[in-house]
Amino acid sequence: MAETFCIAFVVGLMGFLLGSLVYHFLPLFLNFGTVPKGNFGWPFLGETLSFLKPHPSTSTGTYIQDRFSRYGKVFKSHLFLAPTVVSCDEELNYYILQNEDRLFQCSYPKPIHGILGKSSMLVAVGDTHKKLRSMALSLVTTMKSKLEFLNDIEKNATGILDSWKDKSQIAFCEEARKYTFNVIVKQVLGLTPEEPHTKKILQDFLTFMKGLISLPLNIPGTPYSKAVQARHRISSTVKAIIEERRRRNAENCIKKSDFLEVLLCTDTLSEDEKVSFVLDSLLGGYETTSLLLAMVLFFLSQDASAVDQLKVEHEKIRRMKKSLEFLDWEDYRRMEFTQCVMNEALRCGNIVKFVHRKAIKDVKFRAVHLDPSLHSKALQFNPWRWQTQDQTCKKFTPFGGGSRCCPGFELAKLEVAFFIHHLIQNYRWKVEDDEQPMAYPYVEFQRGLKLSVECC
Ligand code: HEM
Repeated sequence: MAETFCIAFVVGLMGFLLGSLVYHFLPLFLNFGTVPKGNFGWPFLGETLSFLKPHPSTSTGTYIQDRFSRYGKVFKSHLFLAPTVVSCDEELNYYILQNEDRLFQCSYPKPIHGILGKSSMLVAVGDTHKKLRSMALSLVTTMKSKLEFLNDIEKNATGILDSWKDKSQIAFCEEARKYTFNVIVKQVLGLTPEEPHTKKILQDFLTFMKGLISLPLNIPGTPYSKAVQARHRISSTVKAIIEERRRRNAENCIKKSDFLEVLLCTDTLSEDEKVSFVLDSLLGGYETTSLLLAMVLFFLSQDASAVDQLKVEHEKIRRMKKSLEFLDWEDYRRMEFTQCVMNEALRCGNIVKFVHRKAIKDVKFRAVHLDPSLHSKALQFNPWRWQTQDQTCKKFTPFGGGSRCCPGFELAKLEVAFFIHHLIQNYRWKVEDDEQPMAYPYVEFQRGLKLSVECC
């Protein structure tokens, strides 16, 4: 009998905590014999409201905490209109991720399909998913291999930092979003921030993001319904950009060498799939990456020795280059401590809390319960732990895993690393208002992470 699982990974601060939600579980044979213990909550809404209850993203939140202590690492629930199993067991999560298309399949709740569209990589399965994924991998390979792309990223970073010169206070989340949005729009569509299309996409995209994790009520005026409309508008804008490019290419035959060109020349994707591909790239490449950057600054503001060590690393790299020379891939590879800082910010900040899967076959699973203290002093930001700890282990999956592992993870890290390179050598900063990242469960700094900055 086929079962539908939806798994949400809460990459828990506690280290051992990876939450997963499993939908429509029916006869699910975990090592509990039948279905795990738990509660379906209210009719219709189930436990969705408790799940969505805001909490600091550096903690597990009461939804997970309460049920975890009552039922253990794996429990049943009812979320986003469907029966669900939530797993906080990294062995089970790993097992599920590694068995994509064999035992499990990506399955986001139906309302999310309504917003993302049926051709989105996040919801596509089987051959459609493979086709779209290979496109995403080729986008990242193109970016890594072309110096021009890397230079663009760096120019965007220095552009933002230069604009701080006469300021003493910055709303950092806004700056970080500007940076990552400009990077991804340039990389995928070849657009600069000043172009009207860019502004229009950004505006609609913000509405789209707000509705992505909201109550799925398609009633005019709700964030969900606004998101569905915003998606239609972005889709029309992207189609217009594609058309414009086709017309220009036909007129003067001087082709740009950006990714849109690669996308245009692809005959394996339909027009709808091309539009969805652009949306997926924006979705993946924008908010998550800017949040990682914000998390890095947030945690570093509390750790002067990590800042000092980063400074040494980046000044050394700068000394190896001619003045004003752009960074390249090799420089990025040399940023070893920066990698540790990013890993630790990902671990402590829990940017992506969950992913969804369904079971396509009955599953027998023996959970090997791991030591609850996988990360010593788990609540503490300690980038040095990554100098000895394997970042590819089961207990660290900030980018998912298996055949759906995030294709953009290296691009995200590179963007953050390049930004840090210039930031650390030019500015000192302090977080104002004691702000902390909150999970709604979609993670956000409520007041936008205000920083006081000064040149150094
Ligand atoms: C810090 C930054 C990022 C984080 C934390 C992150 C996290 C994730 C996670 C957890 C998944 C797995 C979803 C699942 O299994 O259902 C994923 C998938 C994905 N990410 Fe990222 N991501 C980041 C940056 C990016 C960037 C920069 C891009 C694009 C340029 C991107 C594009 C995608 C796409 C297209 C998928 C779907 C892959 C598939 O289904 O095969 N992400 N990401």
